[in-house]
Amino acid sequence: MTVTEDQWAELHRLAVSAMERAYCPYSKFPVGAAALVDDGRMITGCNVENAAYGVALCAECGLISELVNTGGGKLVAFACVNSQSEPTAPCGRCRQLLFEHAAPELVLAMPAGRMTIDEVLPGGFGPADLDAKQEGK
Ligand code: THU
Repeated sequence: MTVTEDQWAELHRLAVSAMERAYCPYSKFPVGAAALVDDGRMITGCNVENAAYGVALCAECGLISELVNTGGGKLVAFACVNSQSEPTAPCGRCRQLLFEHAAPELVLAMPAGRMTIDEVLPGGFGPADLDAKQEGK
């Protein structure tokens, strides 16, 4: 699925809008995320922190929750932004979340430019790896 420049621009706009709704009184580091799903819909998320700091939800957590709760599907394009509306890198845990729901050629708008999911999480652990569970001990 080819992602048009108009779709990338819309993802950026949606990510900025989500970032402006972030709840981050502790880090004061708002993050907004947006993604294009393979059925054409767009989904978003923002980070939601907590007085118990370790409980904080990254923007990608909300985005993946929205993905599943609005019908599932595979992610085709992804963007997340910081308070300056600039691309920011997903943390390691969020790369794993995205990997689980990625279309084979998911492209992410990273600070260094657009990268595929295999470039941001090479050799990632996924559902197929669980197929080996009967072979191990
Ligand atoms: N954060 C995200 O929302 N996504 C990431 O991938 C990296 C970090 C949030 C978590 C926390 O609320 C704030 O950024 C600072 O770490």
